[in-house]
Amino acid sequence: MMMTKHVTIIITKKDKRMVIISKSPEETLAVGKRIGAKCKPGTVISLRGSLGAGKTVIAKGVAEALGITEAIVSPTFTLIQEYQGAKLRMYHMDLYRLSGTDEFEMIGGEEMLYGKAVTLIEWSEKIQEMLPKTTVYVNLDIKPDQDRVITIEGMEL
Ligand SMILES: Nc1ncnc2c1ncn2[C@@H]1O[C@H](COP(=O)(O)OP(=O)(O)OP(=O)(O)O)[C@@H](O)[C@H]1O
Ligand SMILES: [Mg+2]
Repeated sequence: MMMTKHVTIIITKKDKRMVIISKSPEETLAVGKRIGAKCKPGTVISLRGSLGAGKTVIAKGVAEALGITEAIVSPTFTLIQEYQGAKLRMYHMDLYRLSGTDEFEMIGGEEMLYGKAVTLIEWSEKIQEMLPKTTVYVNLDIKPDQDRVITIEGMEL
């Protein structure tokens, strides 16, 4: 398990969004932990951002907050990884290699979105129309200096 160093994150509220500048993987992990602390049964989180933006780092933070002790591995080839937390189950999806919504239905993905687990989805653009209305959106943008601009919609930290 990745341990969180003590870091301070500054959260700014802009319209209905929370904006955070992350200067390191540790800070992004801390943001993930904050998100994880707010998750409830059925929370679905769409993680958006380019390759290497830090989506999986956020997932690791959420997992830590949910009390998952197992290491979080990128589920690129399996599409979906399942973890059991202290109270909640967590699904971590990486749909980069998903062919389309048909394949998602075939592997039982849609039921997972409407169950009691917390679901994190990387590359959820592939199943945009299947996402619940209550989906939380977390966007990560890589700035030229490598800092990350993290924008959260649909959840208050
Ligand atoms: N501020 C930062 N926040 C998060 N990651 C950072 C930051 N600065 C540098 N990094 C590095 O960027 C990489 C992010 O990797 P990660 O696997 O989380 O990306 P990803 O968005 O899941 O990519 P992919 O689309 O390939 O799954 C890590 O190697 C991490 O160390
Ligand atoms: Mg990833």
